[in-house]
Amino acid sequence: MTTRKILVTSALPYANGSIHLGHLVEYIQTDIWVRFQKMRGHECHYVCADDTHGTPIMLRAEKEGVTPEQLIARVWQEHFDDFSAFHIEFDNYGSTNSIENKECAQDIYRTLKANGLIEVRSIEQFYDPVKNMFLPDRFIKGECPKCHAKDQYGDNCEVCGAAYAPTDLIEPFSAVSGAAPELRNSDHYFFKLSADSCQQFLRQWTRGGSLQPEAANKMQEWLGAEGENKLSDWDISRDAPYFGFEIPDAPGKYFYVWLDAPVGYMGSFKQLCKAKGLNFDDYWKPDSDAELYHFIGKDILYFHALFWPAMLQHAGFRTPTKLFAHGFLTVNGEKMSKSRGTFITARSYVDHIKNTEYLRYYYAAKLNGTMEDLDLNLEDFVAKVNSDLIGKYINIASRCAGFLTKFFDGKLAFADGKPLLDSAIANGQVVSDSFENRDFARALRDIMALADRINGDIAAAAPWTLAKDETQREALHDICSRALHGFYVLSILLSPVLPALTSRVARELFGLDRDFSWADLAVLPTRINAYQHLATRLDPKLIEAMVAANQESLKPMTETQTAAKPAIVPIAETISIDDFMKVDLRVAHIVNAEHVEGAEKLLKLTLDIGEAQPRTVFAGIKSAYDPEKLKGRMTVMVANLAPRKMKFGMSEGMVLAASGETPGLFVLSPDEGAQPGMRIK
Ligand code: MSP
Ligand code: ZN
Repeated sequence: MTTRKILVTSALPYANGSIHLGHLVEYIQTDIWVRFQKMRGHECHYVCADDTHGTPIMLRAEKEGVTPEQLIARVWQEHFDDFSAFHIEFDNYGSTNSIENKECAQDIYRTLKANGLIEVRSIEQFYDPVKNMFLPDRFIKGECPKCHAKDQYGDNCEVCGAAYAPTDLIEPFSAVSGAAPELRNSDHYFFKLSADSCQQFLRQWTRGGSLQPEAANKMQEWLGAEGENKLSDWDISRDAPYFGFEIPDAPGKYFYVWLDAPVGYMGSFKQLCKAKGLNFDDYWKPDSDAELYHFIGKDILYFHALFWPAMLQHAGFRTPTKLFAHGFLTVNGEKMSKSRGTFITARSYVDHIKNTEYLRYYYAAKLNGTMEDLDLNLEDFVAKVNSDLIGKYINIASRCAGFLTKFFDGKLAFADGKPLLDSAIANGQVVSDSFENRDFARALRDIMALADRINGDIAAAAPWTLAKDETQREALHDICSRALHGFYVLSILLSPVLPALTSRVARELFGLDRDFSWADLAVLPTRINAYQHLATRLDPKLIEAMVAANQESLKPMTETQTAAKPAIVPIAETISIDDFMKVDLRVAHIVNAEHVEGAEKLLKLTLDIGEAQPRTVFAGIKSAYDPEKLKGRMTVMVANLAPRKMKFGMSEGMVLAASGETPGLFVLSPDEGAQPGMRIK
């Protein structure tokens, strides 16, 4: 077998948040694949880093009263510890804020510039006049121009899904200071993705087999038909203040975080080269014979399948061999949710469940190398761990090893050794193909089928009965030896998934002074040491406790959450119940809602409160509601308010709405079942 040179990366997690079970889908998947390659004897390097630049990190550091460098150092340690707890073993875990990364990013930029692919253009952008900074789309909020939902981000609406420019927002405000942003001009640096050379290259690259079929199709959509120039230039600069790398010869201009993030793969690898004496160019120059793989989530495909290869190609580097994109994690069939307690951090899993290999096993059993989403069903998780991992795998050793130690001094003896080896190697080949293709689900199905066969043999021979009969020693020796050889084979095959457990099996039980390698399949073990307890069943109570602990509404508010709460408006003077009862509040059915010509803030509502004639009320809620969305809704009105003559007609009451220090206006509605005219008290 020839030794392959392989460089593998996982996406660089943002340094402004904790690692959660969603992230782990990716890092566990990558780690399994890397461990498999290493076990096969290939020269495989796995690098990653924290993604540390950008406005959110700068602002968060400011809020916490620390420097961005202090913040990212703390988060780096947290991330690193979380990954270690899940046995994710990077050969180097760096940071995009490293000297090596800066060199790489500036070097790439200079080459792109020399090749005529950088252009400077003045663009108009929102500026926060209070905070004195340009605002990224995510830090501008306002009313959706399409559905009029309040408080939507500057790039797209979470209510109706519309995508738009921040300048399309109605009544935009800065999410940093609350101020109304101003449009200002500024010079930005663009990578000319629309250049012919880029388009042509990407058209060919995206069809060249580096992408999964689903990803390749997506790319054809983004690239458009032949001759159709659909790609626009990519804005790679941001103005100060910004936490990032300054652009060479452009004072006050910084690389946009997504420029130096993928370059972080190189930066981190460069550190590894220094530590291990590897040659950087062997892996990154166009004539490289090394393979380069990026594991990523489907959400960041655009950056990795368009910007990144185009950058590499035009900066004199090789392009990735393959991108391995995966889907998103759901928990119990739904998006992870803080209110359901299913937004679970890596730390919280460790605190409650401890054994992180259970999760590795479960994810592996579900990962098939496609971009489909993956569901962590918590009940199924417990069932699978207990029935497969403990019930099928661990049980083989725990039931048979004792007899070998007790009666045969730990020695294994087979009636006929050769066929056992042949089948071990054959099993190894099938499973190894599945690992190579990242169809871990299939690998585990085959491994568990093998476990089933071994358990079947054990059940048929019943060693616990044989052990009671002294004349049956040979038969007992044979079945227990076969069982332990089976356990040995299973342990080798499971090593990429369960590295810590199988390391103990290799060292403690089989007496090796190292972990298993794939080549061990061709060797028959000759003896074992006394069996020591390996793993316990997963108690469903631990899962319940974990989910309960993550349920946001149950948690006391943290200090930062409290601090972020707006000032409380003082409570009004005390009134008697009689005072309150003077207000006649009624459930009202909004029969009609419409705009009023010439009125800036008002909507005209027609309200049914069970009277012969519906009432007309003019309500100052135009900024918050699309009249179409109000029609048919129930709300609450003050029915005994003196009618008021207004410019547009008579208003016969008032509807109730909440508002506060933060923007937004929220009309009240009763719970389902309330009927028009019901009194509220
Ligand atoms: N910083 C960027 C990546 C830069 S790579 C040059 C980023 N960071 S992230 O922290 O948001 O995500 C890191 C990786 O975790 C991404 O590949 C992302 O797709 C993956 N996941 C984050 N949440 C996930 C789920 N809920 N499910 C599966 N993978 C998820 O993107
Ligand atoms: Zn909308």
